[in-house]
Amino acid sequence: MPQKFTYMANRGGFSGRIGFILAAAGSAVGLGNIWRFPYLAGTNGGAGFLLIYLICILLLCFPVMVGEIAIGRKAGTDAYGSYQKLGGGKWGYLGLFGILAGFFILSFYNVVAGWAFGYFLEISFGDLLTHQNLGQFFGEYVNNIGPLFLFSLAFMGLTAFIVSQGIAKGIEAANKIMMPGLYIILIGLIIYSLTLPNAMAGVEFYLVPDLNEITPRTIFYALTQAFFSLSLGMGALITYGSYVGKNQNIVSSAAVISIADTSVAFLSGLMVFPLVFSLGAEPGQGPKLIFVILTEAFQNMGPIMGRIVGGSFFLLICFAALTSTISLLEVPAAYLVDQKKLPRKPVVWGISALIFIFGLPSLFSQGIVPFLNKLPVHNSPDFLSFVSDMCDISLTVGACFMCFFIRNRWKIGNFNDELALGNPSFFGSSIQTYINFAISWVCPVLLSILSILVIVDKFFGLEHLF
Ligand code: TRP
Repeated sequence: MPQKFTYMANRGGFSGRIGFILAAAGSAVGLGNIWRFPYLAGTNGGAGFLLIYLICILLLCFPVMVGEIAIGRKAGTDAYGSYQKLGGGKWGYLGLFGILAGFFILSFYNVVAGWAFGYFLEISFGDLLTHQNLGQFFGEYVNNIGPLFLFSLAFMGLTAFIVSQGIAKGIEAANKIMMPGLYIILIGLIIYSLTLPNAMAGVEFYLVPDLNEITPRTIFYALTQAFFSLSLGMGALITYGSYVGKNQNIVSSAAVISIADTSVAFLSGLMVFPLVFSLGAEPGQGPKLIFVILTEAFQNMGPIMGRIVGGSFFLLICFAALTSTISLLEVPAAYLVDQKKLPRKPVVWGISALIFIFGLPSLFSQGIVPFLNKLPVHNSPDFLSFVSDMCDISLTVGACFMCFFIRNRWKIGNFNDELALGNPSFFGSSIQTYINFAISWVCPVLLSILSILVIVDKFFGLEHLF
C-alpha cells in the first residue's frame, strides 16, 4: 500500500487528526446540505422533517459513521478490501455494492455541481440578476445543454485532476479557508433574511413542528437524506478511515464530523425559509428551490452587492461540492489501485470519463429529452431524480448490512477493541453502551424495516398498500 500513504502524505502538513476531520467533513458538507436539504425540508413539512432528520442523525447515522471508520481503520484498505479482509467469504460484495453506488451518486451529483458552477458564472459575470422570472429562467437554464455539458465536464475534470494528484496541499488549505468562509456567508445571509418582512413565518415553518404533517414519506426522505448528507452507507468513510492513525479517537472525530455537517444543513434551512416566506414563494418547489429563491434575494440586494454576495455564495457551494466529489471518486479509485494494482492516474481519469458518460442521461433529463423527463416510475419524475432515489436506497441498505457485518461477522468485541485505540476511557463508558446497542439492535432493526418500506414506496407507492 505505499501508494496510499504517499497519497495521504500529499494531503498537506496538518496533524493526522485535523487532516482526516477536514477531509471527512469536506466529503459530508456539499450539495446535500445546501441544495438538497432545504428543498426536501420544503416539500416535506419543514419543521417535522428537521425533527426526524435530527433523530436519524443521533440514532442511526452517528453509530454507522463510527462503524465505517472503525472498519476502514482496522483493515487499512479500500471498501471492498476491508470487508473481504475482516469478513472473508462473500462480504467483499458489500464493498463492491457501495463502490457501485458511489459511481452512480457521482454521475448525477456532477450534473448538479455543473448547474451551481454555471450560476456562479452567470451571477458574477453574466446578466442573470436582471431576469424578471427566475423560476422560468432556471427551467430554461437546465435545458441549455451546451454550456452545462462543458461545466459538468470541467467539474469532473477538476475532481479527477485533484484525485489523480493524490490530493495536493492546496485542497486541504482551500478546505480550511472555504469551510469557515461557507459558515460566515451562511450566517451573514441568515441575518439578512431574518430582517426581511414576514421572515418569522419562515422561521415558524422551519422550527415549529406540526406533528400532523409528519407522514411516512417525511420519515423516508429525512432518513435517506441524513445518510446521503453524512456520506454514509457506501464505503466513503471506510476508505477515508483507512488513512486514520491508530492513535486517533474515532468516536470524537465522528462526533465533530456529524456536528459540522448537521450544522451546515440546519443553517441552510434557516437561511432559505425566511427568504421563501418573505418573498411570498412556495417552500415545496423542489430541486430548483435555492436556485430561484437565493437568486431573487441576491437580485434584491442591488446589482453590485448581488453580484458579489451571490457570486461568492455559489462559488462556495462549488467548493463544498468539490470536496464531496473528491471523496466519491476516491472510493472506486482506491478499490482499483489497492485491489487491481493499477496505477493511480490512468485509473482516476478512466473512471471519471465513465462516470461522466453515465451522468449524461441525468444532464438531459430536465426536459430536453422528453422520455428522460417522464419516466414510468412511481415518484421519480426524471432520470436524475430516479438515479438519486436508487442511490438513496442503496445507502440505507448498505448501512444496514454494515451493522450486520459488525454484529454477526466481525463481532462487537473486535469493534470495541478498535474504538478503544486512541480512546482509553472508551471501555465502560456510556458512549460505548450507546454505540454497541445502536449497532447491534437499533440500526439493524430500524434500517431493515425502513429500507424495505422505502423500496416499496419508491416502486409501488405506499398508499397502495394501506
Ligand atoms: N455528503 C455529500 C453531500 O451532502 C455527498 C457525498 C459525498 C456522498 N460522498 C458521499 C453521499 C458518499 C453518499 C456517500 O453533498
